[in-house]
Amino acid sequence: MFINKIREKFGRNKAVKPKDYLSNILSDTTHYSISEAYKTARTNLMFTLAAEKGCKKIIVTSSQSGEGKSTTTSNLAIAFAQTGARVMVLEADLRRPKLHRYFSLPNDKGMSEFLGGFATMEEVIQHVEKYNVDCITGGKVPPNPSELLISPLFAELLEKLSENYDYIFVDSPPINVVSDPISIAKLMSGAVVVARQNYTTSEVLRQAIASLEFGDIKILGYILNASKDVPGVSKKAYKTRYGYKQYSKYGYYGYSKYGHHSQNDDDE
Ligand SMILES: Nc1ncnc2c1ncn2[C@@H]1O[C@H](COP(=O)(O)OP(=O)(O)OP(=O)(O)O)[C@@H](O)[C@H]1O
Ligand SMILES: [Mg+2]
Repeated sequence: MFINKIREKFGRNKAVKPKDYLSNILSDTTHYSISEAYKTARTNLMFTLAAEKGCKKIIVTSSQSGEGKSTTTSNLAIAFAQTGARVMVLEADLRRPKLHRYFSLPNDKGMSEFLGGFATMEEVIQHVEKYNVDCITGGKVPPNPSELLISPLFAELLEKLSENYDYIFVDSPPINVVSDPISIAKLMSGAVVVARQNYTTSEVLRQAIASLEFGDIKILGYILNASKDVPGVSKKAYKTRYGYKQYSKYGYYGYSKYGHHSQNDDDE
């Protein structure tokens, strides 16, 4: 707003383009190869989880920030809901909650409020009409995210939700940066690990896998995000939607930057 006013004043009357949070979320206009890739991931996950009784609980994690955990969590949830399954998506990255952006939901009450004892489960569950999924967003960024996530309330929430849903997907912070994903993953059927092409190095990925193995977490599978090699996607389409330009944006993420992220830090 303020920037728009300055631009008006100095003759640059062009509105500031809002961040396009939805461009990588599945929709009717998504290229079929991309939808197909998620369907393949869905089928593989369904087979991997076939022996598991009742509600399947899947945490999506990755080694570092910006690799596509929240995007993948949202898209997997959408892809599973397309089969008619009852799907819940939970935000467990309380430092940098993103699900509300990807599902266009308000975020004034969410996981933080529930775990902090300020809201009931019913008050924080939101329905996303467009995708037929239910979601608990992150809520306000708390000062003590790790403590909230290891509280018995989180385990109780999962147990209650398990009675009403076929699949629960959990978005989480990067495993090489904070330990939250391990404590959450212990309550889940297993973890899906995301890596991003031209960004994730084998060294950091190995480190993430070692942490999961050390925590005795079942790895359900790996997803290579932003792959260049999606069949059927033309170079031109790829360049605009998955272009190298975007990668440079994530280059600056480091430990300290991550740790100090605040509620108002909407920058990617
Ligand atoms: N396949 C893709 N192609 C292009 N952009 C993508 C792709 N996947 C994710 N992005 C973009 O990369 C950015 C980071 O993605 P996302 O929020 O899913 O990452 P993350 O791993 O959850 O990050 P963080 O750890 O910071 O929460 C977002 O702007 C998202 O739209
Ligand atoms: Mg995220």
